[in-house]
Amino acid sequence: MTLPRVTMPELLRMKRTGRKIVSVTAYDYTFARLLDRAGVDLLLVGDSLGMVIQGAETTLGVTLDEMIYHTRAVARGTVRALVVCDLPFGCYQAGPQEAWDAAARAMKESGAQAVKLEGGRHMSGTVAFLTQRGIPVVGHVGLTPQSVHAFGGFRVQGRGDAAAQQVMEDAMALSEAGAGAIVLEGIPAPLAEAVSRKIPVPTIGIGAGPGCDGQVLVLYDLLGLYDDVTPRFVKRYLAGAGQVSTAVETFAREVRDGTFPAPEHCFTE
Ligand code: KIV
Repeated sequence: MTLPRVTMPELLRMKRTGRKIVSVTAYDYTFARLLDRAGVDLLLVGDSLGMVIQGAETTLGVTLDEMIYHTRAVARGTVRALVVCDLPFGCYQAGPQEAWDAAARAMKESGAQAVKLEGGRHMSGTVAFLTQRGIPVVGHVGLTPQSVHAFGGFRVQGRGDAAAQQVMEDAMALSEAGAGAIVLEGIPAPLAEAVSRKIPVPTIGIGAGPGCDGQVLVLYDLLGLYDDVTPRFVKRYLAGAGQVSTAVETFAREVRDGTFPAPEHCFTE
């Protein structure tokens, strides 16, 4: 039996009942299908694809067309998971109308059930504009990678009383504006726990400790495939890079020594 698809209201119910939200990033059909079957609740098509798929140093170069292309593939691979399309840098920050145009395209063309955007209090008007018009929005505060140059690098945010208060106010503003969930990235664990207790909507942490209502990891980090950088908060559940290398080296050896293809891989007529 196919379970009904996870919805934004279901995420809220999960927070209320204390069931942790499981989220992983996805960028293509094949992985989406595996993650969906594994019971992941929320598949985030993150603009992290700029780094792990495209090989860029930051997420800034990703376009809306690219996000829609990858999200469409992910949506085709899911039956249960909620699919969220990240709005990339430069397509929503100028104001609610620009954000509406981008988010409406994402919803119409990609098959996502929600969009995600970065930024705190200053984005709350935009979040309200989208949610009041029927587009579910996931917020994202703390270490927001689209602001990497303003931060001077991928640095933990919310350290110290004033910065912590700022993150708290950002999360509260997004929650009041109608965000259905909020990603808390790269902030001290006690602050993430305090935010998660304070706001009514679910928080999904990455580098934010165990006190969040759910956790998200970048798939290629989780599988140990992306080893350009390994942030402290990443746990690798597979030594993927080594396993892929070994498999491909074995294939190369068998091609070169004539072991592959064997008779069972051949058509005889
Ligand atoms: O782009 C992304 O993958 C993200 C997650 C790391 C939260 O925003």
